[in-house]
Amino acid sequence: MWNIRGRRLSLLIDEETIRKRVRELAKQIEKDFLGSPEEPVVVGLLKGSFVFVADLIREIGMPVVVDFLWVSSYGQSMESSGKIRIVKDLDTDVEGRWVLLVDDILDTGLTLKEIHSFLISKKPAVLKTCVLLEKKGRKKVDFTPDYLGFEVPNKFLVGYGLDWGELGRNLKGVYAVEEG
Ligand code: IMP
Ligand code: MG
Repeated sequence: MWNIRGRRLSLLIDEETIRKRVRELAKQIEKDFLGSPEEPVVVGLLKGSFVFVADLIREIGMPVVVDFLWVSSYGQSMESSGKIRIVKDLDTDVEGRWVLLVDDILDTGLTLKEIHSFLISKKPAVLKTCVLLEKKGRKKVDFTPDYLGFEVPNKFLVGYGLDWGELGRNLKGVYAVEEG
């Protein structure tokens, strides 16, 4: 197995398990978004969600618009700054549209809660949130995603889009970075 910056990685969720769960989430989303008068807008948060978004949208069996928001991230650190800066805004006007916000992982919830209010200010008709992973017992704010892939332990994770200082995104599964 790989190591990153001298740390060992241990497999937490394998590729096949992710694939199955992503398909289930997509089928649920497809049902829930059938009533959308226009094509739903899937908004991925860069960079962490790009792998998840790529797989998720291809399991959704209806036309969707895909857009990305880029917010400031952790950088090299493993802790949430709690401060969110919009680096790249949406290209799509989402006013009156049905929107699905997609992120890789919910840790303290600070990031998603901020971005959720930011999107609400753009007046979508419907705004739902889909997160692949949620760390157990870490939430600092009251925020519950409408769709959740997996609950995960409180470890630092990489793979399937998630990075540690930009490394690890291209792993096919989700891995925990081991201590020491
Ligand atoms: P929150 O604001 O604490 O919920 O942090 C959410 C964001 O932090 C996610 O969108 C990720 O980009 C990043 N993040 C949180 N936990 C991890 C992790 O274990 N590995 C990689 N990135 C993480
Ligand atoms: Mg992120």
